[in-house]
Amino acid sequence: MSLIPNLNGHANVLVAGASRGIGLALCTALLARDEVARLWAVSRNAKGNDDLATLARQHGERLVLMDCDARDERSLATLATELGHTCDHLHLVISTLGILHQEGAKAEKSLAQLDLAGLQVSFATNAFAPILLLKHLLPLLRKEPATYAALSARVGSIGDNRLGGWYSYRASKAALNQLLHTASIELRRLNPASTVLALHPGTTDTALSRPFQGNVPAGKLFDPAFAAQCVIEQVGRLGPADSGGFWAWDGRAIEW
Ligand SMILES: NC(=O)c1ccc[n+]([C@@H]2O[C@H](COP(=O)([O-])OP(=O)(O)OC[C@H]3O[C@@H](n4cnc5c(N)ncnc54)[C@H](OP(=O)(O)O)[C@@H]3O)[C@@H](O)[C@H]2O)c1
Repeated sequence: MSLIPNLNGHANVLVAGASRGIGLALCTALLARDEVARLWAVSRNAKGNDDLATLARQHGERLVLMDCDARDERSLATLATELGHTCDHLHLVISTLGILHQEGAKAEKSLAQLDLAGLQVSFATNAFAPILLLKHLLPLLRKEPATYAALSARVGSIGDNRLGGWYSYRASKAALNQLLHTASIELRRLNPASTVLALHPGTTDTALSRPFQGNVPAGKLFDPAFAAQCVIEQVGRLGPADSGGFWAWDGRAIEW
């Protein structure tokens, strides 16, 4: 299966949220594929990250590390400008940007635990950052096949919400899904070969999920390498006809 549908030749790829967890596993897996000509790995301190430095030693000029706080539009604008000096088209962008319990975000169990600061930081990272990243990278997605996939979460599904709790995380991922769906309609007009996807990677053993792994049934917690492989399979399978949808790691559509 090619990296994205209708890809003829090599691909330029950007992963935002590359420093750890699923994003780091994605960088490792993508760099192992010959079609990936160059990969830009973005996080707030990508250049000072030991794991990314190890990958950079292995892959030389195929891997470019870029620092960017995706909640800061000036930082995003600088990223896009610097990228534009060496790249005229991105074939694949994957955003793994997300927080659940870090940086003031809370996995609330009740309304009493909800507060403005927690809501704001969750929305800023989980919903606003991925869509602003798409806004700033748009000039690089306007020709040829181009896929923008953002990691959402099944708990962002309103129809699937039977347990409650995690107000900020659920609502910010639902907002992300709406933003991505809306963007898919605009991108279809600008570039009929474009695909925008909201993807649920499955519950995965990372810093984000660690405090909550006690509730995960045995055998249901994915290794980041497995989750990354599932995400890569979905971006290879889902094309323009699927753009704007919300999909799980196993290829099944998720209700909004
Ligand atoms: N793990 C799970 O079970 C699970 C389940 C469903 C959905 N997801 C989703 O999958 C995605 C990846 O999750 P993960 O578990 O791999 O999380 P993680 O290990 O905590 O990694 C999150 C990544 O996002 C980056 N990031 C966060 N804020 C950023 C910002 N403002 N600017 C730039 N980069 C930023 C982090 O980099 P720096 O902090 O180094 O900048 C890090 O590379 C998230 O969107 C999450 O909601 C995860």
